[in-house]
Amino acid sequence: MSHIIIQGGGRLEGTLNVQGAKNSVLPILAATILHPGRTVLRGCPHLSDVEASIRILRHLGCTADWEGEELAVDASSISRWDIPDHLMREMRSSVVFLGAILARLGWAEMSYPGGCELGPRPIDLHLSSLRQLGADLREEGGCLRCTAQHMSGREIALSLPSVGATENAMLAACGAEGETVLVNAAREPEITDLQEFLRAMGCRVRGAGSSTICIQGRQPTHDAAYTVMPDRIAAATYLSAAAAAGGEVELRRVHHRHLSTVTAALHASGCQVSGGEGQIVLRSDGRLRSAGTIRTAPYPGFPTDAQAVLMAALLRAKGATVFVENIFENRYRHVDELCRMGADISVADRVAVVTGVRELYGAQVRCTDLRGGAALMVAGLAAQGTTRIGDIFHIQRGYEDPVGDLRQLGADITLEETP
Ligand code: UD1
Repeated sequence: MSHIIIQGGGRLEGTLNVQGAKNSVLPILAATILHPGRTVLRGCPHLSDVEASIRILRHLGCTADWEGEELAVDASSISRWDIPDHLMREMRSSVVFLGAILARLGWAEMSYPGGCELGPRPIDLHLSSLRQLGADLREEGGCLRCTAQHMSGREIALSLPSVGATENAMLAACGAEGETVLVNAAREPEITDLQEFLRAMGCRVRGAGSSTICIQGRQPTHDAAYTVMPDRIAAATYLSAAAAAGGEVELRRVHHRHLSTVTAALHASGCQVSGGEGQIVLRSDGRLRSAGTIRTAPYPGFPTDAQAVLMAALLRAKGATVFVENIFENRYRHVDELCRMGADISVADRVAVVTGVRELYGAQVRCTDLRGGAALMVAGLAAQGTTRIGDIFHIQRGYEDPVGDLRQLGADITLEETP
């Protein structure tokens, strides 16, 4: 079992290029199978979730090979339409392959993705969108069997702007006859990135970034090379780390507009934050104050994925900060671990109240989920003494090289690898 060891209390200084976005690259990898040819993804992060997607692509009959920082996928010949249970279990978001496999082949089979560490994660909106396009979906014994020999575009209104359901519907609509109009679509930047990738392959998609997306199906596709957008949650993590530890960091390869609610909260807590073309600079003296009330919401609201890392940054802030988690039911599992480090946090249902403490102390903690794990790194950097973080496979799902990145910013952090 590998661990991350942090000697806290030092400031962070320096410049960092932000990795490509996990939540963009996963649907984009699913989208590669729409094109019976070759696509090259630049800036593709080396993550365990990306490796899980590669295993799915290879299982389906595609080739997927790293060429340095680029990932080349060739989906010329696809020999299977099923995703076996063990591959589905590796990554819940593999359900986004469903729309793409249906669009390309007209049938698909996969096990039903269960709940996850964030609580129940239903896929009713994914399935209802595909059904509205004409897919026949049967759920038998935890297995989804889908046929869609002929899908037709139409207007689909999502009852809530689910990111995954929007992506699945966009991918399936590429294989439907005529125009699909998605209403109340998610507006996250990763949806726009998926649209831009689809356009690079020749698909006709417009409107992403707004709540109405139009897809013209059955368009011929062609080979494409595409650069994945920067990861706004990795950026939020490193900004939170610098805010908590104190110091001055410059993040490059980042879109500051994607992070405006996060930087507004950091500014409200006393950090100086400035953003320019492709960069953000944050200065903090490490003595923060409450950021007031933070309510997570669909984009452009405060991202649920940044809730844990911002909470970790504010553990020593003067006053109390209130977090209201509106997206997922069970997203405070990191709280108990943070309390082991001396944090004062009380949770009631969807509300967490963080009362700033004078000091945090290094402790033995373990990751409960991806962003909760990142929060432990942020807290460890601001704590006195040594923090030893276990179950770091959660962190490795979404951060390419967190230890290398934080070392580059001057952190005393090491990876203790145990075979
Ligand atoms: C994506 C992100 C995840 C992020 C989340 C919200 C990826 C790989 N993951 O997850 O990091 O935290 O967006 O920004 O991009 N819901 C339903 N029925 C559905 C689908 C969703 O009720 O069919 C509910 C969910 O339970 C949740 C809410 O909608 O409460 C939002 O979920 P959704 O936007 O779908 O998140 P994901 O796409 O799973």
